[in-house]
Amino acid sequence: MKFFIDTANLAQIKEAQDLGVLDGVTTNPSLMAKEGISGEENVINHYKAICDIVDGDVSAEVIATDFDNIIKEGEALAALNPKIVVKVPMIKDGVKAIKYFSQKGIKTNCTLVFSAGQALLAAKAGATYVSPFIGRLDDISVDGLGLIEEIRHIYDNYGFKTEILAASVRHSAHLLGCAKIGADVMTGPLSVILSLLKHPLTDSGLAQFLADHAKAAGK
Ligand code: E4P
Repeated sequence: MKFFIDTANLAQIKEAQDLGVLDGVTTNPSLMAKEGISGEENVINHYKAICDIVDGDVSAEVIATDFDNIIKEGEALAALNPKIVVKVPMIKDGVKAIKYFSQKGIKTNCTLVFSAGQALLAAKAGATYVSPFIGRLDDISVDGLGLIEEIRHIYDNYGFKTEILAASVRHSAHLLGCAKIGADVMTGPLSVILSLLKHPLTDSGLAQFLADHAKAAGK
């Protein structure tokens, strides 16, 4: 399972990269705004800075919602760095654009996916990744992990190459649920990745080992 970090914060991306377990980055316009990144030049420079840190795919989302402008924006983003994956919303013109990009060999991430039907459409259009938002489904009392399971089943039935990128992952139970189902990728905040480190028996066991070592050494 690939681990992507869902942030535009350079320090957090670097921390995850330094941990040695990072496979890529996803961003979205809200995450860029959270870092105070606005204006075409700043946005472009920020994506370049992310690509310089991470070994792996970097999703950069288009703002346009009509076919011609999605293509224009997506081609400009893709030209920045081979790591860039053009993130396109699940709308009619978005699906058309994903088909266009896939024929041109430009990687895509179909975002804002909330149903198996949408995921099927994204795969048929040739998306590299499909991003079902499991946390946002859970927020409205719909089973997010259940959607990942449905999509896995459908993709396996037909051998679709589109990778399931479980998004809006909020905690380690989401991440582990996705791993059990066989999602190809998960994207979440750094805190979710770091939460995997934690177990109280690890902490108490290490404290005991160190105390015993110090006692034997007469300290
Ligand atoms: C996906 O790529 C999105 O950036 C993201 O996972 C959304 O997560 P949120 O629901 O926590 O905002």
